[in-house]
Amino acid sequence: MLAKITSGAVIGVDGLLIEVEVDVALGLPTFTTVGLPEGAVKESKERVKAAIKNNGYEFPNRRITVNLAPADVKKGGAGYDLPIALGLLAATGLLPPECLEHHCVVGELSLDGQVRPTPGILPMVIAAKQAGRHTVLLPRANLAEAAVVDGIRLIGVEALGEAVDILTGSRPAPEGPPTDNPHMLSDRYAVDFCEVKGQEHAKRALEIAAAGHHNILLQGPPGSGKTMLARRLPTILPALTFPEALETTKIYSVMGLLPPQSGLISERPFRAPHHTVSDAGLIGGGQIPRPGEVSLAHNGVLFLDELPEFKKNVLEVLRQPLEDHTVTIARASHSLRFPSRFMLVAAMNPCPCGYYPGDPHHACSCNPVQLQRYRHRLSGPLLDRIDLHLEVPAVRYSDLVTPAAGERSEVIRQRVAAAHQIQRQRYQRRQTACYNSQMTAADLKRHCAIDHPAEQLMQQAVDHLGLSGRAYHRILKIARTIADLAGSETLKSEHLAEAIQYRRLAPRQ
Ligand SMILES: Nc1ncnc2c1ncn2[C@@H]1O[C@H](COP(=O)(O)OP(=O)(O)OP(=O)(O)O)[C@@H](O)[C@H]1O
Ligand SMILES: [Mg+2]
Repeated sequence: MLAKITSGAVIGVDGLLIEVEVDVALGLPTFTTVGLPEGAVKESKERVKAAIKNNGYEFPNRRITVNLAPADVKKGGAGYDLPIALGLLAATGLLPPECLEHHCVVGELSLDGQVRPTPGILPMVIAAKQAGRHTVLLPRANLAEAAVVDGIRLIGVEALGEAVDILTGSRPAPEGPPTDNPHMLSDRYAVDFCEVKGQEHAKRALEIAAAGHHNILLQGPPGSGKTMLARRLPTILPALTFPEALETTKIYSVMGLLPPQSGLISERPFRAPHHTVSDAGLIGGGQIPRPGEVSLAHNGVLFLDELPEFKKNVLEVLRQPLEDHTVTIARASHSLRFPSRFMLVAAMNPCPCGYYPGDPHHACSCNPVQLQRYRHRLSGPLLDRIDLHLEVPAVRYSDLVTPAAGERSEVIRQRVAAAHQIQRQRYQRRQTACYNSQMTAADLKRHCAIDHPAEQLMQQAVDHLGLSGRAYHRILKIARTIADLAGSETLKSEHLAEAIQYRRLAPRQ
């Protein structure tokens, strides 16, 4: 007998409905799965067999064939366990086949028949809704995440037996969870800018970075607060909009990184991969491609601490997401795109020992060769994509012990939001959100006209500091953001003078 049941797969970060066909025929007992099963799907039969037996149902000792269609998509993960088990029970007459109609079923089974949380539920529920299914049967632990999608009935189950009872009507389906209210997005974070004492210059630079979406490099001795500052950058960015939160939550869902019972991700993500991360770990990849750190940082902040310690090839692959805000992963048959719009914050010590060029209390112990090697590890093209370069000096004792609290993130966030609003209006004819950091040469010409005193200042800077054309453009972009923060339409010398301070710290301009 043949039974059909709908389940779901994840392609990139999008859901795709999969037809699971289970055929039970006379013949020698075998269990074959076809339709490009990979890894965990191949092992599904062992879990399904044990779960069925341990829940007191009879496992058919016949020729079992499971087909996962469409056949040209590689299928991974353990989410097909529950649909395969229910399909088997339907094919052997233990479950009326019509009770599976209009349902979409996903869930991993443990050997005792428990339904375990499964990655990628959110995109699958979105796909089920778009395809007009009216019910999704899923692991109870994933209910909160699925409830982000409204207008579809959700049944959360904890065990195979419970799913069978609900489908046959011998047990009522539990009440679905309330769907997440899209207006409940919070902008509360565990950390706040007011905890950073002193360092006014660094705080100002981070505000400018947030306002114009400029990537930023922090350079300073150990303990100067670079990590502390970077961690607080998401707190001064405007709260996520509902579509942004949905995009980010989908990525965490696919990676199985949503905390249990959590719905929509409402905080901007902060990702800080270790410098030993591989290029696939950073930008994504694998047999069945999965997103990497740059996508987990989507709509948030990617923090690369100890930048020169990262492998060169790893930093090289960062260029595409920094430029295009997406990662494209090409496979023989198709290519996938993962969203990766993030702000990059990089941190480094000025030299291997950390105390160059002569901290008043610590002597630098590096020799010139070590120094040069350290700096050469940073690729020019990557540094060119970082608009703001900032020196973070050691924090002063008097600042550290002052009882006065600094400005709260909430207050800074309002100024940043106002600057974003100005940019939205300026670039409104663009398709995608555009910030000052993304200005093209034509935009620079149009929006960064400078008056005569400012022109003279720039000329001096170019002549005396030996700035390159590229550095010149970077300064204009930052000056535009500084002017936007000040609510000024024109670029004035004071805006340029401040922007010039954030020029490149590395030896080459
Ligand atoms: N400006 C500051 N205000 C309050 N506390 C500070 C400040 N700067 C540093 N600290 C304290 O010092 C600790 C170390 O700072 P942090 O880890 O950010 O330094 P770092 O510059 O990242 O150092 P490293 O180069 O070793 O990574 C912080 O956790 C914090 O407790
Ligand atoms: Mg640090």
